[in-house]
Amino acid sequence: MNDKPSGCPMGAGAKAGAEWHGAQLDFKESMSYGDYLGLDRILSAQHPLSPNHNEMLFIIQHQTSELWIKLMLHELQAVRQNIRGNNLPPAFKMLARVARIMDQLVHAWDVLATMTPPEYTAIRPYLGASSGFQSFQYRQLEFILGNKNPNLLKVHEKSPESHAILERELHAPSVYDEAVMLLARSGFPVAPQRLAPGRTGPTVLDDSVKAAWLGVYQDTEHHWALYELAEKLVDLETAFRFWRFRHVSTVERIIGFKTGTGGTEGASYLRKMLDVVLFPELFALRTEL
Ligand code: HEM
Repeated sequence: MNDKPSGCPMGAGAKAGAEWHGAQLDFKESMSYGDYLGLDRILSAQHPLSPNHNEMLFIIQHQTSELWIKLMLHELQAVRQNIRGNNLPPAFKMLARVARIMDQLVHAWDVLATMTPPEYTAIRPYLGASSGFQSFQYRQLEFILGNKNPNLLKVHEKSPESHAILERELHAPSVYDEAVMLLARSGFPVAPQRLAPGRTGPTVLDDSVKAAWLGVYQDTEHHWALYELAEKLVDLETAFRFWRFRHVSTVERIIGFKTGTGGTEGASYLRKMLDVVLFPELFALRTEL
């Protein structure tokens, strides 16, 4: 047999009955990498509208962010279930994964920051009123982490399916609500109104919750699992804050203080979003330790 790897991929690939280090080369009858991943659909979903070279970066940056957000939502839904079921070790693992995904999205801004103002200006007229502000998955991410705002559902009326998912998420307990319910189940007194279902606004600081978490942090030995849960949540919120900050800094770098395509005042709107606190008590208690 003289069909050993030739060291030259072109040569090896060109021969009939070719071989390459034992790898399967014929996929006429079996599932390949691209089949499994649906790559034909993913890689044919980039449709620049402008003649500008840089629009491809803009599209891929958003699409990859959406894929990572999809994974974060997948993980966070399971985190919520696991906390509800008092099954914390898997929740820790998943929360760590979500925080690392967020870290990665923080670094992804470096790639987008290679886009200069003239490059963005060339594509902006083609974007119409479309904006990340209308990202359905991003809104779901905010909601599942407790930053809820029913006014923002309207954007999604165009897609009844997305709207219904967001509506459900708006009324469901957030991941943090589940953590607060776990505090209560663990014997910490939590005000009944904080445990009542159906909150549809952002999480606001509750003194009983703050006192409960303070109790956890003051006796970590006895409340190690709750302490670990709290720190995992703080890790995630910290990474999310960095993402928000890199977003607004990149936006200022690229469009300055122009209004956004989504209709807000632009960078100053995003600056206001830096004040969002997802898990208020976990940050407030630190002053008292
Ligand atoms: C050149 C690149 C970008 C610019 C100039 C930009 C600009 C803006 C502006 C001005 C807003 C405020 C809403 C508006 O009026 O449009 C916004 C919101 C938003 N953008 Fe970007 N953005 C960029 C890239 C990205 C990327 C890559 C993502 C990743 C998914 C993203 C996700 C979002 C999200 C989720 C919001 C809503 C934030 C909130 O409501 O708190 N943006 N963007």
